[in-house]
Amino acid sequence: MPIPDGRSMTSSPRIDGVAKVTGQADYTADVVPAGVLYAVLVQAAVASARIQQIDMQAARESAGVAGVWTHENMPRLQKVSAFPLGAAAQKRPPMQDKRVRYDGDPIALVVADSFENARAAAHLIHPIYRLAIGSAVDFATAPVQRIASLGLMQRLLSEDTQRGDPDAAIASAPLVLNHEYSSPRHLNMPMEPHATVAWWDEDSNLSVREGTQWVDGAQDVFAKWFAIKRNKVRLLSTFVGGGFGLRISMLPHAALAAMAARELQRPVKLVLDRVHICRLSAGRPATRQHVRLGATADGRLTAMLHDTVNETGRQAVYNEAGSRASKSTYAVENYRAEHSVAQLDIPPPTWMRAPGETPGSFAIESAMDELAHAVCVDPIELRIRNHAPMDPASGKPWSSNHLLRAYTMGADSFGWDRRAMEPRSRREGHLLIGLGMAAATFSAKIAPSEARLELGSDGRIRLLSRGVDIGTGAYTAMALIVAQTLGVPLDRVDVRLGDTQHARSALAGGSMMTASLGTAVHGAALKLASTLVKLARKHASSLSLVRGDESLAVRDGQIRSDIAPTASVSFAQVLAAAKRESLTVDYRTHPTFTSRVIGAKAFTSMAAIDTGSAGDSITHSWGAQFAEVEVDEALGTVRVRRMLGVFDAGRIVNALTARSQLLGGMTMGLGAALSEGVHVDTRIGRPMNANLGEYLVPVHADMPIMDVIFVGEFDAAAGPLGVKPIGELGITGSIAAIANAIYNATGRRLRELPLDLHSTEASSNVAHLKIAKV
Ligand code: MOS
Repeated sequence: MPIPDGRSMTSSPRIDGVAKVTGQADYTADVVPAGVLYAVLVQAAVASARIQQIDMQAARESAGVAGVWTHENMPRLQKVSAFPLGAAAQKRPPMQDKRVRYDGDPIALVVADSFENARAAAHLIHPIYRLAIGSAVDFATAPVQRIASLGLMQRLLSEDTQRGDPDAAIASAPLVLNHEYSSPRHLNMPMEPHATVAWWDEDSNLSVREGTQWVDGAQDVFAKWFAIKRNKVRLLSTFVGGGFGLRISMLPHAALAAMAARELQRPVKLVLDRVHICRLSAGRPATRQHVRLGATADGRLTAMLHDTVNETGRQAVYNEAGSRASKSTYAVENYRAEHSVAQLDIPPPTWMRAPGETPGSFAIESAMDELAHAVCVDPIELRIRNHAPMDPASGKPWSSNHLLRAYTMGADSFGWDRRAMEPRSRREGHLLIGLGMAAATFSAKIAPSEARLELGSDGRIRLLSRGVDIGTGAYTAMALIVAQTLGVPLDRVDVRLGDTQHARSALAGGSMMTASLGTAVHGAALKLASTLVKLARKHASSLSLVRGDESLAVRDGQIRSDIAPTASVSFAQVLAAAKRESLTVDYRTHPTFTSRVIGAKAFTSMAAIDTGSAGDSITHSWGAQFAEVEVDEALGTVRVRRMLGVFDAGRIVNALTARSQLLGGMTMGLGAALSEGVHVDTRIGRPMNANLGEYLVPVHADMPIMDVIFVGEFDAAAGPLGVKPIGELGITGSIAAIANAIYNATGRRLRELPLDLHSTEASSNVAHLKIAKV
């Protein structure tokens, strides 16, 4: 069967693109079931308290109100499992007792005949709180604990790691760099705010529309909350306006919508606004990282120590492990990483695009730039000198690694030779110009998946899957895999995603969807082909084929023979000869699970995700990020002029959407570098810029000229599709490339995000600094 190799790069527009831009794609908030009621969520206005009194009377008497719930009349729901054993953001269902655990904790739900009436009534709820003593919301001053010291599960998830003798190596290193880097809390900010539409039928079956990255996980969470069987819950996530990790775990608002729908026996729609959602999750938590590098005088690493501290909630320990970006990228024998948290009265943090690698690559790739300058070696040359020919963490070979090619192709394409090693060397009037670069990496994961293909009598092929397209292009990628494997035109493939009535799928996260679900889809297409060939053999005479022809095979979308090369039979003709209306095949990527425990939770937990550590080789995506900045010397303002990412992501299934994903990741890096960050009011723990007006993401006017180059090839170890991760790769390294460009432009080293030349943080080379304070 023809499997395209890395050289033939398909580039196809989204098959769902027209539906999306013409408004035909219905997102959750677009859905209006007959008889629907509208819910509005009320959130706590303090970080840690008991609700002493909450008066529902005024809200209940308000116009159009159908129901009001607080902890006083909220039905009891079951506790659920959170990461890694389940898909809930928090174990405790909302509004089960009078405790407030964070600013934004749900304290009431109001349901009315219109959104306006529900909102008006919600404004009438004014609880009286009894504040808890000793609440803590300030990461800067909170005590810190090693994750490994917090219990057995935490020890397993701590990601603490060591190889060689890093203490001795750092003590004897000819050159030591010792720096701290920090990043503020980041919010995922998908374009579509969270929304739930829920309804129950007379047989107590629950249907939920909710944009999630993981319908299997969400289905399980609803089943547990309401103590019903999983198959009583239908979850639909047909169109989802972004996730970036915030939609992997089910947030508590969804339980309230489903509860109200059950109590009122009506469909209930709960659409959160931007402020709501920014207070239900702490997004990517704030971090502080401590990096120590030991090196020889010519810049060869002898030791690397990389410690991360991040803020987390009280209900679960979330690990934003910076070491994910450092433990495997460079050939350094002596390495240690430790991970700690400050437990605060804040909402649970969550995954956000390249969790760990994003702040981690800011720190380690800035530190590598600092080392390059300390030893006066070009930053690319320094990275080449320290390139890891195999995975230094496991000692196993890479399945493929074209990082060196990414460096050289990027340098050529970006004009790296125009960069002077000496900072402040390039000037255009009052603008200082600088170039910077950094390495990018993301490790491959794969999770069990199943796929069902249905061939209709009209020759159309339908893929039915629970997998979700969160805007990444999964609809198109899966259609392309079917079309290319069978050799049929793309427009003969229909894709139905995000419905629990379909075959089970890996979650749309961890950048593993194409490798995971794609492998199942590819397998199903091969099975459809072999089933068609068998049927054609059986009905050879009525199809005018030679009986017993062993050479029959699917080629270019037809059944063809080597004996009679001109003869060809269409899929529809085979069905007609077999007198069948349709043909359905199922394929799964996981013939057996070695552990029954994992098998049972393979689709509803993270237990069956294969991180590749058990295999013979290690699979990572790689890249080289480049940035050019201009800095206004008088004002200290930074503008990024150009960004280039050169990526080895294996074989590219769809160059157009892959490029978009990587540009999106780089754009997110631009935001993290220059503007993004939550400002917490440390008296009450509230994010004060919980909206897109004041949480500053890049807008069109901020955008540099951006480009992406692919240097990867088919990676046979990464599965039959030869693909490696894309979605999260693009953000890794991008922040450091900008920070390093600012250093090259100004001679100022910024180690705190967002990068701000007006910050008072200590920085090296301040002697060069001539930037005016405004
Ligand atoms: Mo990604 S943070 O796994 O959606």
